[in-house]
Amino acid sequence: MAAFDTVIRNGTVATASDTFKADVAIKKGRIVAIGEAITDADETVDASGLLVLPGGIDSHVHISQPSGPGIVMADDFESATRAAAFGGNTFVMPYCLQEKGQPLRAALKDYHALADQACYVDHSFHLIIADPSDAVLGQELPALVADGYSSLKIFMTYEGLALSDYEILGVLQVARETGALVQIHAENYDAIRFLTDRLERAGKTAPYYHGKSRPIAVEREATHRAISLAELIDVPIVIVHVSNREAMEEIRRAQARGLKIHGETCPQYLVLTEEDMQDINKDGLNMEGAKYVCSPPPRDKASQEACWEGLQRGVFSLFSSDHCPFRYDDEAGKLTPKGRTSFRWVPNGIPGVETRLPILFSEGVSKGRITLNQFVALTATNHAKTYGLKGKGSIAIGYDADIALWDPQKTAKISQSGLHHGSDYTPYEGIEISGWPVATMLRGKFVVRDGQLTGAKGEGRYVTRGKPGAVA
Ligand code: URP
Ligand code: ZN
Ligand code: ZN
Ligand code: ZN
Repeated sequence: MAAFDTVIRNGTVATASDTFKADVAIKKGRIVAIGEAITDADETVDASGLLVLPGGIDSHVHISQPSGPGIVMADDFESATRAAAFGGNTFVMPYCLQEKGQPLRAALKDYHALADQACYVDHSFHLIIADPSDAVLGQELPALVADGYSSLKIFMTYEGLALSDYEILGVLQVARETGALVQIHAENYDAIRFLTDRLERAGKTAPYYHGKSRPIAVEREATHRAISLAELIDVPIVIVHVSNREAMEEIRRAQARGLKIHGETCPQYLVLTEEDMQDINKDGLNMEGAKYVCSPPPRDKASQEACWEGLQRGVFSLFSSDHCPFRYDDEAGKLTPKGRTSFRWVPNGIPGVETRLPILFSEGVSKGRITLNQFVALTATNHAKTYGLKGKGSIAIGYDADIALWDPQKTAKISQSGLHHGSDYTPYEGIEISGWPVATMLRGKFVVRDGQLTGAKGEGRYVTRGKPGAVA
């Protein structure tokens, strides 16, 4: 009997700190040896010329979330996790959205029912707290944190989701007492409402004006306020999907003052701009811009540079997709009857779980903006550490054999026809990529190999997480 189930031979392994040539041996789904000339295995995978990286962990994805009357997300757990696997990911953290008045466990039951037996990669859930009632804060949330639901997201904007500062402080207090980590969507709700009303009165209703309804000051102010509220409670937070310099600088200054503020940015803030929202569709209407409507909106070239700087300098420790897919040419997607009347009603969010890693690899590593080790940290290791995910996010002995094999020389153009998500478009159409994941392995078994799906749905498991930040 061979000593190992599989050995990945002759590849270049990269972790968050080191890059080295080594063979990686796998037994029972875990990495059990890293060394030279390992041969005693049932299966040998030749990784000559390839990078052996930890599978991507995407800690910010929205799947099957209710998004308003008549609107349906373009991905269910099956299609989203299949797309994730093709994009070199082995783990996703979608959201479990609490409806107003709904007990958190009831919401979780629904999401588990959707995800169980449907996933191609492993997953866990962040809780979205829409209704921080006394029962939720006093009993439900502490019990769930103890059960491994140790992270949550709260919103400073969106109708039905925005929490008041008083409510945010209440949630942060529970986080402090329980060790949960809170993600904050930082945009000023009242400012957005005011600007939206004013734009509509002026007849400025096309998707392009979505960006004008939430300019940088809206995000900067809320980021500053979120940090201040966290400082009052003395608790770490994550500011998610940061889009520009001013918000980035708020986080940098807070970090310099010793506050534990984590920052996250996303592909849309590196490669899209608000000009994309001006696009004209095939009927000569300016609705095409709806393809890029997300919040915060893509900004400008200077903001892109600021986001790169944030990644390079470690202000942002997390790079996630904020995958939130809708179909474009669809009444249940971007172009609802109401969405055609005003940007106010266009569902916010864009697909990106499959393209996150290639975009950062190509624009970041291949173009010399970040190192390969930074790439690994930003896309896998830091997500595991930040959110208390044990035994994942690195190539290390004892860790799950969640591995992506990358061909750093492979060039391709992003195109909807080559993607596996449920949307009918990609906002990244036509971007030239250099460096692609050519195989993805989940706990020692290939999910994707040579461009083919080799995994089966249901093989992706729910994983209980520990205390955020507590993973060595
Ligand atoms: O526009 C976005 N980002 N939609 C997804 C929901 C969120 O705020 O993350
Ligand atoms: Zn489940
Ligand atoms: Zn958000
Ligand atoms: Zn999001």
